[in-house]
Amino acid sequence: MIVTIDGPAGSGKSTTAQRAAARLEYVYLDTGAMYRAVALGFLRAEAPATRSGAEAVLPSLTVDVEYRGDTMQVFLGDDAVTDRIRSAEVGRVVSDISTLAPVREYMVEQQRRIGHAQADRHGGVVLDGRDTGTVVFPKAPVKIFMVADIDERARRRLQEYEAAGEEVTFEEVRAEIEQRDQQDRTRDIAPLRRADDAIVFDTTDCTIAEQVDFVVDRVKAQDGRGT
Ligand code: DC
Repeated sequence: MIVTIDGPAGSGKSTTAQRAAARLEYVYLDTGAMYRAVALGFLRAEAPATRSGAEAVLPSLTVDVEYRGDTMQVFLGDDAVTDRIRSAEVGRVVSDISTLAPVREYMVEQQRRIGHAQADRHGGVVLDGRDTGTVVFPKAPVKIFMVADIDERARRRLQEYEAAGEEVTFEEVRAEIEQRDQQDRTRDIAPLRRADDAIVFDTTDCTIAEQVDFVVDRVKAQDGRGT
């Protein structure tokens, strides 16, 4: 079973996908974390977010994931970067880097490989991102498109930054999210959009428990149909 959850930053995808995967005893694949790891690779190489930057960086860059219990660890080469990819610095450049065609080709290939391997091993995978239901797994039997009010999304993202010890204001986070939404929605390749067969789920007034229940119920309903 492949379950895709797409939507803009702060809509609640990651926490929901992670916890729904744990409840279902599936594996969680955070595709945004993989783009963040590539972005960190660009920052380390001091490469610009351009096609020529990608051509210089990608041949010597590998991004992979490993699972320890329920937790997904991200690797840039041999280096575990799960925490470092959450910095505001990575947040500022990742959207630009994720517009580059060679980056997306590499990511989609890796995500399909990991998704199929983990689904075979564990019975299912829950992916979250921007294009997991439109490009990575367009035939996924359960697709959810999560949305939430911009202020609520900025508040959630601010809490994450504060937990990571970053000093940013609500206004800065809101502006960053707005800009990222715009960029993710209007880029030429794999823009953020709802797959025609995805269910829209507005999480503005939902608790995390309600969000997880929603996903788990959809998966169980689909399983009951024998797919
Ligand atoms: O979900 P996130 O904020 O960690 O994602 C970081 C960036 O990666 C986001 O700006 C868009 C990009 N991304 C993408 O283009 N496609 C995906 N499937 C996941 C993330």
